[in-house]
Amino acid sequence: MTIASTIRCLITAGPTREYLDPVRFLSNPSSGKMGFALAEAALERGWTVDLVAGPVALTEPDGAILYPVETAEEMFHQVDALFDVCDILIMTAAVSDFRPRQRLPHKAKKDQAELVIELERTRDILAAMAERKAHQVMVGFAAETDQVESYAQKKLVEKQLDWIVANDVSFMGLGFAADDNQVLLLGANGQRVELGPERKQSIARKLLEYWIPNS
Ligand code: CTP
Repeated sequence: MTIASTIRCLITAGPTREYLDPVRFLSNPSSGKMGFALAEAALERGWTVDLVAGPVALTEPDGAILYPVETAEEMFHQVDALFDVCDILIMTAAVSDFRPRQRLPHKAKKDQAELVIELERTRDILAAMAERKAHQVMVGFAAETDQVESYAQKKLVEKQLDWIVANDVSFMGLGFAADDNQVLLLGANGQRVELGPERKQSIARKLLEYWIPNS
């Protein structure tokens, strides 16, 4: 007798917020739409979906298990807790690379506020998970404004990924916060596929088929 096991996927989506004080933060325009579209496409396939999302104005698809987070550090801990049981990690989140060195416990008053903000690096979640990867398929996303393919190829190698999805966020209306996307999919075995421009839902279905075929 064979027991069919479902694929468990771990998807991150949206931006992170790195607080200066309780009312001010550094962030980016990521809407989370690509990650939520992938969650929906994965559920259509019968996969189990853990969705770790930064602050977004979207409702999670029925059946997805949502883990809301705000900061890069919170996202790191949530992904870290779920990683060992997933079969595929899909990092669509636009994780902030820097956070203010200090987070004030009260609102900074303008006459007292420092005009120079000191920053420190956040942890690279994807690279940290790749270090302890067992059977997982590892997928990164690379939002670039120039030299899209060469930067994405570099991240594929340096972060030890199986796949990277590159998109050029310098076009208005595509990529960040948009409903449509146009992407370049690069694989560790030399695969190179151009997809779109088309709806993020349609791109999501095609991507899953490349990552875990016939599942
Ligand atoms: N990523 C991550 N942890 C971070 C930063 C990024 O896990 N602290 C992941 C993103 O979710 C994405 C991939 O790494 O899947 C590439 O992110 P990107 O911002 O394009 O690249 P960086 O590694 O941050 O490099 P740079 O900002 O220099 O382009």
